Amino acid sequence: MKLWSGRFSKATDERVDDFNSSIRFDKRMYRQDIQGSIAHAKMLGRQGIIPEADSELIIKTLGEILEDIENGKVEFLIDAEDIHMNIETILISRIGDTGKRLHTGRSRNDQVALDTRMYLRDEGGELDEMLKELMGTVLRVAEANIETIMPGYTHLQKAQPITLAHHFMAYFEMFKRDRERLADWRKRLNIMPLGSGALAGTTYPLDREFVAKELGFDGVTKNSLDGVSDRDFVCEMAFVLSMIMVHLSRFSEEIILWSSGEFGFVELDDAFSTGSSIMPQKKNPDVAELARGKAGRVFGSLMGLLTVMKGLPLAYNKDMQEDKEQIFDALDTVKMCVPVFCKMIDTMKIRKDRMLKDAKEGFTNATDVADYLVKKGLPFRDAHGVVGRMVAYCLDGGKAIEELTMEEFKTFSDLFGEDIYGAISLESCVNLRTVTGGPAFENVRGVINEYKKYYNA
Ligand code: ARG
Repeated sequence: MKLWSGRFSKATDERVDDFNSSIRFDKRMYRQDIQGSIAHAKMLGRQGIIPEADSELIIKTLGEILEDIENGKVEFLIDAEDIHMNIETILISRIGDTGKRLHTGRSRNDQVALDTRMYLRDEGGELDEMLKELMGTVLRVAEANIETIMPGYTHLQKAQPITLAHHFMAYFEMFKRDRERLADWRKRLNIMPLGSGALAGTTYPLDREFVAKELGFDGVTKNSLDGVSDRDFVCEMAFVLSMIMVHLSRFSEEIILWSSGEFGFVELDDAFSTGSSIMPQKKNPDVAELARGKAGRVFGSLMGLLTVMKGLPLAYNKDMQEDKEQIFDALDTVKMCVPVFCKMIDTMKIRKDRMLKDAKEGFTNATDVADYLVKKGLPFRDAHGVVGRMVAYCLDGGKAIEELTMEEFKTFSDLFGEDIYGAISLESCVNLRTVTGGPAFENVRGVINEYKKYYNA
């Protein structure tokens, strides 16, 4: 018997039950659903909307149901449609008419909006902790590699020398923004929709502020139509998740490149790589590849959610039930990726020698040779031309710029003096870049120390 069957003269077709039912996936919101119902029942009792004794019995029984669910003693029913009606049905089966008073002044439309906000709030909190942990790891690896020189790239071509710490701290900035985005999202998420009713509020004297306070919300929604039909917080979260995956995916791509024989900058720990079923020599960066690949499904969720919402008239429409699988999958995916990625970079071996060797090749100090000439008075454009000719000469002779003799230097410009050798060592190239945001050892050490204060890693 359905809770809403009063006006119907026929049972629901089984196919419709299957089609309509969301219990398969919304059962994961059971805790939030019960917490919301407890706060609602408490308020109904306080306001004298239902007898105080009924309120107390409902609250007590809901607590017992929660415990039973957690102990695996409850079986949810497909034909009870969703988590909201499943729990209400169980409540009524246990305390009869008293249980039937719970849904006073409430609709599933505002109930599902409440549950989803609470569920995503909890999940967002867990994700934030994971990101914090990841940032701690990034910070630790960076701190151990402030003086680890490596080539920096543009167009995936060697460009200028940087350090591994500087490179890692770029990702730290990205994850920091991800956490800031989560904090900002939470401001809009953490508003309490219960009291919006089906769409037009309710005639009962609800104390919405009390419920909001009970459930840890910062305020109540101000328009009942918007209260039940707003899913911005779901879409926004999907975007925050997508952005995290963009960052993880870029980082993964670099780990994949770096662990190749061609780069050889890092070696993944055996516990975080996999073998091949046919090629005995293989050690593959599957974790990084999967993290890169899973970005696709998270972006898919974002697109799916936006598409579900785009044409919906106010207020609630059943289409909105489609929000859950999308956001749950996106969340599950990101929550799976972040910790395993974190451990992978925590345990990988860094090949400082290979990074240094590679930084020495490819004329990564060419800009610094030009800067040297500029400091001796040559306009930058002219210096650029001189060094370009030097690079061509070195390519011919199979030499690095710093391997040229003083006589050879002089053939390109008589501004060159003995101090050129010191000025274009890789270490100088890095350490002369003391501009705010630059890779000089002391700069990066300063940034790391500052962030350590906030992230107590
Ligand atoms: N399971 C529904 C959802 O997730 C709950 C709200 C149903 N409301 C309704 N009027 N049918 O959207």
